[in-house]
Amino acid sequence: MHRRTFLRTTVGAAASLAVASSLTERARAATAPFARPRVSEDVLSQHYPFVLPPLGYANDAVEPAVDAQTMSIHHDKHHATYVTNLNKALETQTALQGKTLRELLTGLATLPDGVRTTVRNNGGGHANHAMFWMLLAPGGAKTPSGALASAIVRDFGSVTACLAAMKTAGLGQFGSGWSWLMRDGGGKLTVRGLPNQDSPLTDGMRPVVGIDVWEHAYYLKYQNRRTEYLDAVLATVNWDAAAIAYA
Ligand SMILES: [Fe+2]
Repeated sequence: MHRRTFLRTTVGAAASLAVASSLTERARAATAPFARPRVSEDVLSQHYPFVLPPLGYANDAVEPAVDAQTMSIHHDKHHATYVTNLNKALETQTALQGKTLRELLTGLATLPDGVRTTVRNNGGGHANHAMFWMLLAPGGAKTPSGALASAIVRDFGSVTACLAAMKTAGLGQFGSGWSWLMRDGGGKLTVRGLPNQDSPLTDGMRPVVGIDVWEHAYYLKYQNRRTEYLDAVLATVNWDAAAIAYA
């Protein structure tokens, strides 16, 4: 075979194999059982020095809802920065270094003035994003079932009404924040928008589903079309993960 033809054939075959392999990997991930159901709880159990867990799936695993570039920047840069800044804030706060992230967020009001806002923003950012990655994990049920589905029907009338409430909260959140489905101590569900990186835990609630509506979560792909982003992400939620958060 002529050298140029050989090279073209070999390179072409390698590229085809790489594409096929990537597609196979994505197909496998999309149908795999949900493998990291407790990463959000694990992060709430962390204490200083806090660590960014790996995303746990490929950056392009939930395309087209979330594009690979946004996923990569969101996890590797934005979430990483919350972790770095939280660690910086507690570097000299030896009395707080043994507290778990859950204790810091639920006890925010008891923290010293000089560190409270930084923990609220960056501790909240760490906890909220850990939950978000878990909720976007490929695989898992695409609609709620079991006890969570029953609670949703009881408190909203239907799953459709619950999702509509989450979308309305996400659209209505002025500036940066999150749309939250959360439960109280008795299991009653509510939907609320919270600003910035505020955690439902600080209000004594337990987060069940959180949708990030900061522009960094969608602007590269959706620009100002937050409503399209919300539709796509709400259709992507891994309800097996949400059921674990609810239970
Ligand atoms: Fe975010």
